[in-house]
Amino acid sequence: MRIREANAADLDAIFAIYDREVLQGTATFDTEPKSAAQRAEWLAGHASPRTPAIVAELPGGVIAGWATLSPWSNRCAYARAAENSVYVHADHRGKGMGGALLDDLIARARRAGLGVILARVVEGNPASVALHESRGFQTIGVMRRVGEKFGRILDVHLMDLHLDLGR
Ligand SMILES: CC(C)(COP(=O)(O)OP(=O)(O)OC[C@H]1O[C@@H](n2cnc3c(N)ncnc32)[C@H](O)[C@@H]1OP(=O)(O)O)[C@@H](O)C(=O)NCCC(=O)NCCS
Repeated sequence: MRIREANAADLDAIFAIYDREVLQGTATFDTEPKSAAQRAEWLAGHASPRTPAIVAELPGGVIAGWATLSPWSNRCAYARAAENSVYVHADHRGKGMGGALLDDLIARARRAGLGVILARVVEGNPASVALHESRGFQTIGVMRRVGEKFGRILDVHLMDLHLDLGR
């Protein structure tokens, strides 16, 4: 498995993984698959070192997972904070892909001079909590009842990793 920056040829595989969560899961609060134009816009928005999109590619070119950093806010004083996303294909979970992607994102965030990575994790997602805790993230709060999907009102746990404090 190798981790590399995503390119346009990866978009079908990236969104095949993501759309399963969009349509059937609560890991993302997106509810509609993106159009081709929106996918291209998404990739263009992840072209800078502070907002990378990366993929985990298996031998043979299979994309097993992907991850991004996104701005936490477009208000300038938040520029030291980014939010991460990590998605691994259901067939490839539990094999270290998510951890490898998150390690790579954290290294990229450090190199880009970011100070904090934030993760929003929906209630009832122990794999994501474990993934983030395994890389030093701590839960700092719960945004109660902020989401609603499939008729369920959902809490979101906010987790952080401080790159400049050694924790
Ligand atoms: C969350 C997700 C990315 C984890 O990816 P993964 O490749 O299965 O994770 P890994 O195999 O690298 O495991 C990473 C760590 O989490 C732990 N973990 C993974 N799945 C777990 C589970 N279901 N329950 C408990 N711990 C789990 C592993 O033990 C590992 O810890 P370690 O490094 O200390 O051994 C994956 O389950 C996924 O894509 N889920 C759907 C999308 C999603 O929820 N994304 C996160 C949105 S916030």
